[in-house]
Amino acid sequence: MKSSQAFQRCISPACGATFDVGEILTSCPKCAGLVDVVYDWAKVAVPKRLSAFEARWARRTERLDFSGVWRFRELLSFAPDDDLVTIGEGQTILYENPVLAREIGLSGGRLHLQYEGLNPSGSFKDNGMAAAFTHARLVGARRTACASTGNTSASMALYAGAVGIEAVIFIGSGKIAYGKLAQALDSGGRTLQIRGDFDDAMRLVQEAAPRLGLYVVNSVNPFRLEGQKTIMYRVLEALSWAAPDWIVVPGGNLGNSSAFGKAFLELHELGLLKRVPRIAVINSTGARTLTALVNERGVRWNGGAVDDSKVAAYYAELDSRHVRAHTVATAIEINRPVNLKKCLRALEVTSGVVREVPDEDILDAKALIARSGPGCEPASAASVAGLRALVAEGLVSRGDRVVCVITGNVLKDQEAAVKYNTLAGDALTKATGLFASRPPRYQNLPIEVDANLDAIVKALEGDRR
Ligand code: F0G
Repeated sequence: MKSSQAFQRCISPACGATFDVGEILTSCPKCAGLVDVVYDWAKVAVPKRLSAFEARWARRTERLDFSGVWRFRELLSFAPDDDLVTIGEGQTILYENPVLAREIGLSGGRLHLQYEGLNPSGSFKDNGMAAAFTHARLVGARRTACASTGNTSASMALYAGAVGIEAVIFIGSGKIAYGKLAQALDSGGRTLQIRGDFDDAMRLVQEAAPRLGLYVVNSVNPFRLEGQKTIMYRVLEALSWAAPDWIVVPGGNLGNSSAFGKAFLELHELGLLKRVPRIAVINSTGARTLTALVNERGVRWNGGAVDDSKVAAYYAELDSRHVRAHTVATAIEINRPVNLKKCLRALEVTSGVVREVPDEDILDAKALIARSGPGCEPASAASVAGLRALVAEGLVSRGDRVVCVITGNVLKDQEAAVKYNTLAGDALTKATGLFASRPPRYQNLPIEVDANLDAIVKALEGDRR
């Protein structure tokens, strides 16, 4: 398959090897670096203004114009229109939340939450899968596969079923929230519960792929990230094409942050966006590789000359100390983020920052988010917990316009919410290993009452605790 306007290219400027879009690559065959999809923009009919995309809202009976990914197809034009895969992804909302803004200290500014949990499989992954499955079909893949903390597998299994390709799932045993496991199993994906964690699963799927002919849809697949760029197009669209000051996003495997950086870089180069927002990537303290590398060890993109020895030394330390990622935000329980270098590039392009937040703050933020708008799963709430910290330290100004990306639906991980809201004091600490030094801030304990009216009246009299 030849495309005259798109090709693949190693992200390392020192290598820069190029490949046809018809090749299946999760790394550069020459130097093992990550690979981008790149466009010869002169050959693509990109609109002169971003607002031109709005015309597609009027044609929502057209399958591609309905898709929140393919509505922007000129900005990811690697396949002919007839071959684009969609199941109606990307019908997501940007929701302004003044209550939450006030609570976390953004007084004059505006806080918007981009709800990607509204996608068909309940997470942002569907944006990426629409693009990855388009490529999978183009190259005639028979079996797709992924390692996952849950959402990738749920999304992949859904698209695989819809397109009629087999799905093979590698998950760490006991490392996946039930809602996600339920989705993967129900969708018929062949599910391998590996006695290990996500980092083991990620390594194994990459090792198994060539031997078993697996088409890997993790975010090392460059086409997946093309789909995830559209999250930012929709954010810009909802803000009438004015860039916000900040995009705050949880960091796990670092696919989103990488895709967002690429989206902004391309729009800027195309002259479609004058100022790019700053990206803040938020780790959990239990999975803090990016924080450690960027904030403590000074690792930078550095024009593509990343100091690999610092990265290798960090991983060697983790191994020698037997450190494994561990966080209540299981979706981002990752110590070896595969897109590290693309994320470093995104941080450079957007003057981005990295922060970490403890699990207690993540669970508090999750409860707070649900009080004044749609809820989310723990990993998603890392964005708001991180924003709160950035406002407190004064890096984000009280008047800044901020978008937090809410990556997954509240129903993905019910256990986290149920434990947080039903167990008090030591019982909560025992069940979660958290809140030993302070109580939860937004806990909403149910009230147990006898089955008679007097008891109910008594329980509801007086102020709420
Ligand atoms: N939020 C949610 C809900 C996720 O599922 C993930 C990643 C992230 C954030 C992190 O995004 O990798 O782009 O930095 N989940 C992957 C999975 C790893 O397997 O479902 P990232």
